[in-house]
Amino acid sequence: MKTAITELFGIQHPIIQGGMHFVGFAELASAVSNAGGLGIITGLTQKTPELLAKEIKKCQDMTDKPFGVNLTFLPTFAAPPYPEYIAAIREAGIKAVETAGRSPEQYMPALKAAGIKVIHKCTSVRHSLKAEAIGCDAVSVDGFECGGHPGEDDMPNMILLPRAEEELRIPFVASGGMADARSLVAALAMGAQGMNMGTRFIATKEAPVHENVKQALLKATELDTRLVMRALRNTERVLNNKNVEKLIEIEKEKGKNLKIEDIMDQVAGVYPKVMLEGDMNAGAWSCGMMVGLINDIPTCKELIDRIMADAEFIIRQRLTGFLDGTFTVSEPRKKVA
Ligand SMILES: Cc1cc2nc3c(=O)[nH]c(=O)nc-3n(C[C@H](O)[C@H](O)[C@H](O)COP(=O)(O)O)c2cc1C
Repeated sequence: MKTAITELFGIQHPIIQGGMHFVGFAELASAVSNAGGLGIITGLTQKTPELLAKEIKKCQDMTDKPFGVNLTFLPTFAAPPYPEYIAAIREAGIKAVETAGRSPEQYMPALKAAGIKVIHKCTSVRHSLKAEAIGCDAVSVDGFECGGHPGEDDMPNMILLPRAEEELRIPFVASGGMADARSLVAALAMGAQGMNMGTRFIATKEAPVHENVKQALLKATELDTRLVMRALRNTERVLNNKNVEKLIEIEKEKGKNLKIEDIMDQVAGVYPKVMLEGDMNAGAWSCGMMVGLINDIPTCKELIDRIMADAEFIIRQRLTGFLDGTFTVSEPRKKVA
């Protein structure tokens, strides 16, 4: 399949692995890229620009296919040295950067001067238009279903994607809730040129996270995510657990007066505990509603090959079946945990 996104990034399939804190290491990014998608290393998981340079080098040793780096401009407890991270990305010869959080405007000249293609993750049409205006090459349009930060508009992809198609000139991928070939074909139908998956890629063999995390994703249903930190206008969709329930109790108690200091025990330093140690009650970590669609733990290649084969089946048979009268009705397939 060829789309504006496969051509922009020089990849075989229009599938991107979104940056994920303490998940997007070289092991996962290289596996996704070797399978024909675009793997992404999460820049800020590496504590210093020097460590990021090392992680990029490791990934380059594991794949000769293109991969990218995520730079997240979110409110963090200590402001990272972004120009130095960008210098490490440029020096390593990386040609794709996924930005997220705040607008990457001030860093665009440095990125573009190095011939880097920038895909900015946006949760609204207005932010997508801004990304287009400042010279981003593409947008990852991230709906309310997504794992991580869905913004404050609560706009699901069934509306957000067609709205993006109405206004954007640059290509966009659908992000949030993307799980399989059905998501990909639906996203293409709504004007996207590919899809970005986060949560789904955690439940793969190569994702370098604790086995407890993968088993939790297998068990969870689409009803098991929660929105937290709304009162701080930093809403995050996370997988429910004991410490998240505690967080929600504190939020109810404090209401509009909630401060980040009130919930530090539930949100700070959680990722290494969950992803590396497998402590599933450590606190708030991002997870999308599509977790209800995770039924297995394939390799990245098995996952991507299956998506592309099923997408071809859906396009050539299911969809054309409606046009030529040979349609079929699918049998229910229960989730196997
Ligand atoms: C565990 C986890 C960590 C994430 N960390 C980041 C991050 O550090 N930076 C970022 O831009 N997006 C982050 N995301 C968001 C993903 O890149 C992606 O946009 C999102 O997962 C898409 O929604 P989905 O989970 O429904 O596929 C994270 C998502 C998850 C599930």
